[in-house]
Amino acid sequence: MATTAAIAAALDAVRERTLDLIAPLDDAWVTRTPDPIMSPPAWDLAHIAAYEELWLVTRLSNATPLHPGLQSTYDAFETPRAARGDMRILDAAQSLQYMADVRNRATEVLTHADLSDDGPELTAGGFVWRMVAQHEAQHDETLLQTLQLMPAGAYAPEALPLPHGDGAGGAADPIDVAGGTLVMGARQGAGALDCEQPPHEREVAPFRIDRNPVSIGRHLAFIDEGGYDDPRHWSAEGWEWRQREDITAPLHWDHHGGGAWTRTWFGRTEELDPREILCHVSFHEAEAHARWSGARLPTEDEWELAARRNPASPHDARAPWGDEPAHGRANLGQSSFRPAHVGAYPAGVAPSGCAHMLGDVWEWTSTEFDGYPGFRAFPYREYAEPFFRDGYRVLRGGSWATQEVAARTTFRNWDLPQRRQIFAGVRLAWDAA
Ligand code: AVJ
Ligand code: FE
Repeated sequence: MATTAAIAAALDAVRERTLDLIAPLDDAWVTRTPDPIMSPPAWDLAHIAAYEELWLVTRLSNATPLHPGLQSTYDAFETPRAARGDMRILDAAQSLQYMADVRNRATEVLTHADLSDDGPELTAGGFVWRMVAQHEAQHDETLLQTLQLMPAGAYAPEALPLPHGDGAGGAADPIDVAGGTLVMGARQGAGALDCEQPPHEREVAPFRIDRNPVSIGRHLAFIDEGGYDDPRHWSAEGWEWRQREDITAPLHWDHHGGGAWTRTWFGRTEELDPREILCHVSFHEAEAHARWSGARLPTEDEWELAARRNPASPHDARAPWGDEPAHGRANLGQSSFRPAHVGAYPAGVAPSGCAHMLGDVWEWTSTEFDGYPGFRAFPYREYAEPFFRDGYRVLRGGSWATQEVAARTTFRNWDLPQRRQIFAGVRLAWDAA
């Protein structure tokens, strides 16, 4: 059973991350967005507070909201991202104050809450608090995507060093996976969100999957061999996007003629490191890279089978190494501010042999986002259901910008196939030989 202290600690840990994350941000950029597909940072901050207030204060007590007039401003559906840059929102100081005030009230409500596993569904096992902690962590990752799009000088974070790679990653390394029955998804009570439930059996045919995600070096080879200019590697939809947007490299990369490339990374210009895991590619680019190398993207089912410690058990949902925290087994938690070198986490390898299944970059799958058989929206419809069967592709595994509270082998992320602002890369798969 969840304890009050454990829940309070989980909420505090995410809050500390949020505050550390935005501390180095230039004041002028707090209420501005660099791109209409993203929100001004201050919107995310006050939205974090509004969501917490809704679920942990007003739904669990008879208190009323602190800013009743702003409820629709901070509702993601009533105020879509494209509208958030042009409206009156709370400024940085007001947003931070709102977050702190809500947290005080939420902590008070938590003190008196019923956390028993057989209590009401919303609070059983601490579900709603875990949902709110994950929500803030997800917005921290969204904030990082926004910060990555800002011009030089807006945001210069302090990054912690990563472990070294093992020198692998120069070529694909297919692993044979036998297939079989996968109990896909997470049971209720594991902190899983509605679209990860319910667990259900799937038969997975034998397949091969790459030991590692694709490195920058391998994607440079794709570029050198004309991959961006050869329609044979691209789907019709992908090629149309590539032509219309004149896409010739991942987002934030710059070509200087010959083989010379740099990238802009949180406002700094850097050399590309071929050993680092590739990031900031769209689903279309991921698919083209895969076809160029004689492979395809994994299905979501294949990905989960290769990532899970015990694919036949509904009680196994956390990490490829088990239930313990990542500690040196994965690049999660945002402090590195970049993907690692291929092979940097030998202790995080899944029983299948696949490395880097959690952390570093989200991995595009070929699966279109949909509800699992028996899906039931809970506790609100708008989290996942509006995005089912609408062209969104599933991404798995979390990135360096994902916090552990929201990282698990059953977690499902989704985005449109042309999106590149997310921290997403590629892992190859093949049919069985
Ligand atoms: C699961 C990352 C697609 O950002 O739209 C945040 C997470 N949902 N607030 C998103 C989310 C509501 C969601 N993704
Ligand atoms: Fe949200």
